[in-house]
Amino acid sequence: MELISKGAEADIYKGRWAGLDAIYKVRASKPYMISELDERLRRERTVREARMMLAARQVVPTPFIFYVGNSIIVMEDVGRRRLKEELGNKPTEARILGEYLGRLHSVGIMHGDPNTSNVIFNESSNRWYIIDFGLSLHTRRFEDFATDVHLVNEVFIVQHQEVYEEAFRSFLDGYSSVTENAGLIVEKVKEIERRGRYARRRSFIF
Ligand SMILES: Nc1ncnc2c1ncn2[C@@H]1O[C@H](COP(=O)(O)OP(=O)(O)O)[C@@H](O)[C@H]1O
Ligand SMILES: [Mg+2]
Repeated sequence: MELISKGAEADIYKGRWAGLDAIYKVRASKPYMISELDERLRRERTVREARMMLAARQVVPTPFIFYVGNSIIVMEDVGRRRLKEELGNKPTEARILGEYLGRLHSVGIMHGDPNTSNVIFNESSNRWYIIDFGLSLHTRRFEDFATDVHLVNEVFIVQHQEVYEEAFRSFLDGYSSVTENAGLIVEKVKEIERRGRYARRRSFIF
């Protein structure tokens, strides 16, 4: 199978499943860890990711899951057009990340890693998908939702600085349009930004 991404947590391969294009997300063993602990962590994270993907599916497009094993998830391949590469040409596309994050928050799901590599446009359904639920959790705490929004702000500052202002404004528009308590959550984000090392850096909105 062809390796298409190597992360700290998992390797991503492109393959086939029952005659369809598929992505194999494999949590490889870490040689420096005690093997029983390593195995348990890989199993727990894999199961959690699959569960959270299914829960998220009620409100946002996520890849169809074909198979879940101890350290592997086989899922629908939704394509290669990531928001990361599209945002530079069309900063208003950030709105979709705002909407999706807002819909997740509205049903009590924190994404945990809302970066622009985790949002992919699927050409066959003409829709954006959100992926990578390895750090997701069920929560009702505004702090957790604010952490997601803060992470988006960080990603935009670091990876999309040339379009930061328009992109982050579009993101917030999308987020506010679907999130009941967006105002309160944004207040919490400001708190995070003020008390952290982030205060030293300037961002237009905070
Ligand atoms: N279902 C999928 N369809 C298409 N591409 C995917 C899919 N899952 C992962 N990828 C690709 O692999 C990359 C890494 O996968 P991801 O689940 O985000 O793992 P990581 O934890 O390493 O970020 C993604 O940014 C995307 O480019
Ligand atoms: Mg990712």
